[in-house]
Amino acid sequence: MTTTNVGLIGLGTVGSGVAKIIMEEAEILAQKLGHDIKLAKVCVRDLNSPRNFSPPAGILTTNPEEIVGQPDIPVVVELMGGLEPARTLVLKALTSGQHVVTANKALLAVHGREIFAKAAETGREIKFEAAVAGAIPVIRTLKEGLPANRIQSISGILNGTTNHILTRMTRDGLTFQDALAEAQESGYAEADPTNDVEGFDAAHKLVLLTALAYGVLPQLADFHVEGITRLEPDDFSSAAEFGFVIKLLATSALDPGGRLEIRLHPAMLPAKHLMAGVSGVMNAVMIRGHACGDIFLSGAGAGMMPTASAVVGDIIETSRDLQPGAAPQVPALGWKHLQSWAVRPQDEIRLRYFLRFTVVDKPGVLSAISGILGKHSISIAQVIQKGSGPKRGGVTLVMLTHEAGEKNLQTALAETDKLDVLTAPTRLIRVENLT
Ligand SMILES: NC(=O)c1ccc[n+]([C@@H]2O[C@H](COP(=O)([O-])OP(=O)(O)OC[C@H]3O[C@@H](n4cnc5c(N)ncnc54)[C@H](OP(=O)(O)O)[C@@H]3O)[C@@H](O)[C@H]2O)c1
Repeated sequence: MTTTNVGLIGLGTVGSGVAKIIMEEAEILAQKLGHDIKLAKVCVRDLNSPRNFSPPAGILTTNPEEIVGQPDIPVVVELMGGLEPARTLVLKALTSGQHVVTANKALLAVHGREIFAKAAETGREIKFEAAVAGAIPVIRTLKEGLPANRIQSISGILNGTTNHILTRMTRDGLTFQDALAEAQESGYAEADPTNDVEGFDAAHKLVLLTALAYGVLPQLADFHVEGITRLEPDDFSSAAEFGFVIKLLATSALDPGGRLEIRLHPAMLPAKHLMAGVSGVMNAVMIRGHACGDIFLSGAGAGMMPTASAVVGDIIETSRDLQPGAAPQVPALGWKHLQSWAVRPQDEIRLRYFLRFTVVDKPGVLSAISGILGKHSISIAQVIQKGSGPKRGGVTLVMLTHEAGEKNLQTALAETDKLDVLTAPTRLIRVENLT
């Protein structure tokens, strides 16, 4: 039986899970695959750090060069996180003829062009299933299950921390601050939650999904990224009254003009949609293909063992490629041929909108606001005036518009915000017509 040697850089949350599966499941993996997978070397920053899983003595090192560039280790697994030295090590591994598996979405979203070009140039694989939606095999589904399709759209809940916070705000009426503090206490949110709550983590994953679906690698600066920090309990109760649930939704689609529509922001979804029912730390991805129709995948988006499951899946796929006479896999995409779709400007998006105005409670306010909206071709579908108790110095007026252009809406809101009857800035939440 042949053996594939694997070098692991990083033995933290995910790395420990990977080491555990490779070592504890070695026998069953060998039976399933017909070859062995061996943990040859593991690199960490500090040999004395406390660990969830202790590999056998002798394979731990603090020198990544004992893995990267070593001809007897064909597969390098990067699980250290961050941009540097991860970028340098990954590039060096590819240049040395090693295949790379990583879970590092930030690295690929920021340096993907350089890294994928290097993989194409050296004819080596870079696999990153765990970087997109944790345990959910979305990359394998796209490349092995759906290559017959022109992908029309992808939408998803790609961050477990924010989904957990939004679930608590929806079900229990918590404020954002209370839900975040609770998530931090229970280990679902980091001490510095910025990357999650401002949407950057989910946006990095959306970049990777977009690359897989359409062969284009947008930059974060190319599209609208908005986190969940400004959502308030009122938004959740109003959403429920209109039959919606609020989720942090990632969307990318090709518009009829062949432009890429990509955005990441809180969205109101019909409460009956499958995506609206994805709660807690779970993730979900919906893929629409021209031939397959809608495919819905859901599962754990993070955590030691779920993420390790995806990483080990990639290690196995790579080791199968290395077996004599192995049939080549479908490439993740023609990375050599990254497309350059134009990104549709956010101004040109057309959606329905939820608007929350805080106003003084006096006659004529509604007609002043609706007059301005009407002037900008925004028609109102429903209005609810919430209670009369003063809040932020006024009462709350919530509206649902018919489909409208984002530019018109923003222009109208800039005008309504100048009305002296408004006592706080207006809040806007986009409504997604997931069908
Ligand atoms: N955690 C998740 O649920 C999850 C889910 C999906 C993707 N990811 C991605 O997976 C990657 C790893 O995440 P994680 O949560 O496992 O991180 P982590 O717990 O912080 O572990 C990082 C590991 O890398 C080692 N390391 C860091 N810098 C190093 C250096 N310069 N040289 C050698 N070793 C170094 C650390 O060594 P010490 O142990 O000695 O400090 C540690 O073992 C990240 O890219 C993350 O975005 C994580």
